[in-house]
Amino acid sequence: MNTDVLQKYNKPGPRYTSYPPATFFHEGVNTENYRNMVVHSNHDHPENISIYIHIPFCKKFCFFCGCNTSSYPHHEMLEKYIDALIREIKAVSALLDTSRPLTQIHWGGGTPNAIDPGWVKKVMDVLLHTFRPSPKAEIAMECNPAYLELEDIDQLAAMGFNRLSLGIQDYDQHVLQLVNREPSLHPLEKVVARMKQNNMEGVNLDLIYGLPGQTPESFQNTVKQALEISPDRLVTFSYAHVPWVKSAQKKLEESGLPTAEEKLAMFEVAYNLLTQNGYTAIGMDHYAKPKDELAIALKNNNLHRNFQGYCTRETTGQVYGFGATSISQLQGGYYQNHKDINDYIEAINQNGFATVRGYELSPKDIIRRTIINEIMCNGYLNFPQIASRYQISTHELKSLVGFNEEKLKPYIDDGLLQLKEDSLELLENGFLVVRNIAMEFDPLLEQSKGQYSRTV
Ligand SMILES: C[S@@+](CC[C@H](N)C(=O)[O-])C[C@H]1O[C@@H](n2cnc3c(N)ncnc32)[C@H](O)[C@@H]1O
Ligand code: SF4
Repeated sequence: MNTDVLQKYNKPGPRYTSYPPATFFHEGVNTENYRNMVVHSNHDHPENISIYIHIPFCKKFCFFCGCNTSSYPHHEMLEKYIDALIREIKAVSALLDTSRPLTQIHWGGGTPNAIDPGWVKKVMDVLLHTFRPSPKAEIAMECNPAYLELEDIDQLAAMGFNRLSLGIQDYDQHVLQLVNREPSLHPLEKVVARMKQNNMEGVNLDLIYGLPGQTPESFQNTVKQALEISPDRLVTFSYAHVPWVKSAQKKLEESGLPTAEEKLAMFEVAYNLLTQNGYTAIGMDHYAKPKDELAIALKNNNLHRNFQGYCTRETTGQVYGFGATSISQLQGGYYQNHKDINDYIEAINQNGFATVRGYELSPKDIIRRTIINEIMCNGYLNFPQIASRYQISTHELKSLVGFNEEKLKPYIDDGLLQLKEDSLELLENGFLVVRNIAMEFDPLLEQSKGQYSRTV
């Protein structure tokens, strides 16, 4: 892929982890709305239950971090937080049809593995007794390897965890120092060997490119080292620089961020190395072994996406989020909890719910979301098929998303996209600018109030 072409499309835009993006969430959505939608979710696409548990605590803050984090709490506070999580699970599950299969539990953060596994077990016991986990349920945790003891892996496996996502970010000690991050406590080979001993199937690695101190050569070395442990999935996140939201990121400007050209070159070396080593590229930043469910789902145009990343329709259902700042992603809307830990605990202790903002989708939004998701995940749209799913004409569908052949011409001319009478298909390099292509189908974009990171 010609870097000049990529540069042409490098402009601010949403990451589309939700549609509409979280910048559209507003405070008109409250606990009452969430309660009603939870009840409604038992009848509208009830297939699977997915659960997200947010642990917002970190022992040390990485300057690049764009996640919702708080400083590590003392014992009493942690206990209150875990009790609130359990209370919230009980309040929501009382409204849910718990005979629906539980197919996914995802622990994210913050750093869920920074808290003692005993706390995790307390919550897992409640979840596994309240819901009906399917035999193939995916139970995953985002871990910072700087705090991951080998014995923790045994304990997590005993609780049912079968997938760990290890945040490597970069192997280079100098880069880690510049971003205020500790290296892995144990060599990664030992961590992965311990996971395999415990029959954990899924090894995910997270890397980030675009950090101070990184060069295309250094990042190539990082990817090579990552390949040595042969992860099932690997993500190369493009560093999202949003200092107007995350002021700590300004510190990275002092150390000197790579230029846009260098960043693109990092993307390119990673893409080439990973695809040459047999990995399937998924979306713009995910890679998976060809036998991995994600790669198979992509092949079958059956890939899905939520705030936690790419997933398959088989395992993912509506997502019920628990914990401070967590977002529930239901068929009819998004519901986000209090960000402040004390406010969250207080609200939960009052009535079991802590929703403070969100977005409820209109029937038109739901159709637009389908279009954006299909582009972002599968790079494929069949207009008459989608139109018939919503019982509208192809013409109506196209006008709902502001379809305009002229807008797509540059992508066609650059060999990124193929447009036929009834369908649209991203060509191999099209996934590198998939956010831009999705933006062409997003009529709400003009009303965006927030600022976004750059697309490449
Ligand atoms: C909640 S964090 C991971 C869990 C754990 N706390 C850790 O640091 O390993 C999820 C992932 O988001 C990615 N991430 C965080 N901030 C980012 C940013 N500003 N731009 C791009 N990716 C980011 C990192 O790769 C990180 O592994
Ligand atoms: S990257 Fe992970 S460990 Fe670092 S501050 Fe963010 S959530 Fe915490």
